[in-house]
Amino acid sequence: MPNFDNTGRIISLNQKRRQKHFMIKTGEMRQPQARVISITSGKGGVGKTNIVANVGYALCKAGQRVLIFDADLGLGNLDVLLGLTPRYNLSHVIAGKKKLSEIIVSGPGHLKILPASSGIQELTRLTPTQKMEIFNKLNVLLSDYDIVLIDTAAGISSNVLYFNASAGEIMVVVTPEPTSITDAYALMKILSVKYREKHFRLLVNMAKNTKEADDVSRQLCLVADRFLDVSIEYFGSVLVDGNVKTGVRQQKVVSEMAPMSQASRNFAELAHKLARSQPMICRSEHRPLIWQDIV
Ligand SMILES: Nc1ncnc2c1ncn2[C@@H]1O[C@H](COP(=O)(O)OP(=O)(O)OP(=O)(O)O)[C@@H](O)[C@H]1O
Ligand SMILES: [Mg+2]
Repeated sequence: MPNFDNTGRIISLNQKRRQKHFMIKTGEMRQPQARVISITSGKGGVGKTNIVANVGYALCKAGQRVLIFDADLGLGNLDVLLGLTPRYNLSHVIAGKKKLSEIIVSGPGHLKILPASSGIQELTRLTPTQKMEIFNKLNVLLSDYDIVLIDTAAGISSNVLYFNASAGEIMVVVTPEPTSITDAYALMKILSVKYREKHFRLLVNMAKNTKEADDVSRQLCLVADRFLDVSIEYFGSVLVDGNVKTGVRQQKVVSEMAPMSQASRNFAELAHKLARSQPMICRSEHRPLIWQDIV
């Protein structure tokens, strides 16, 4: 896979090194900030965690520095999916026992992961101050990465809405199930009305074929166009593939375990497209991310 610069342009490794060297020499080396992209859904079990792990892995393979933030705070399972057993997680940061940088663990392909805890109910009901503190701390780390992917919980809880509203770009995942489509619509509606999010990317997972995925996206875009003041960019699809479940059981990312499988090829295409895409402005007015605004 090719290398990308921070704007997503494809460049050679030598070009990338020369560019960095030039910037350091001329003093132009400002700290570039990572793109922060949330992967979210209305309905649970649509494949968010697998998408984040595999797209993150594929981005790393292409030379991007990727951090995954497991924002499914009460039921985080990204570490389990990747076969990791982190000693510390976000609950230790919230309790003031660890710094955010101290809980980061390495996953396959040099992926970096911020693990959530599992089974701590209080974490699903963070106070506005706690949420703001997490993002202030995350903000400090942004210059170390090219892309931060946020794996949110499903639904419309205040945590989910906050993490989406805090991200620079929002990717909504749906499957062809009607309930997944209606729940995605509900999530976008709330984000649009309550948080002024106006642009979403859509990813269709577990479709039988590309036609079914296209139909799902057309259906959702039509309804959203009619009843919501938002724009939806159909970003791509991942077809249903038994290798994904095998990977989950073996606690390995399918992109590493079976790189030529249908799903792995889809994940690689998505990663490629994401790295090339321009960062999306989600909100109706262009304004910088100020976490305090959206508590
Ligand atoms: N493209 C795919 N083909 C086949 N199975 C898939 C695919 N994507 C995901 N799955 C399966 O769907 C199930 C749910 O996946 P995952 O845990 O990633 O969903 P999620 O949206 O993160 O769930 P939750 O909302 O609970 O966090 C897993 O068993 C996974 O193996
Ligand atoms: Mg998940």
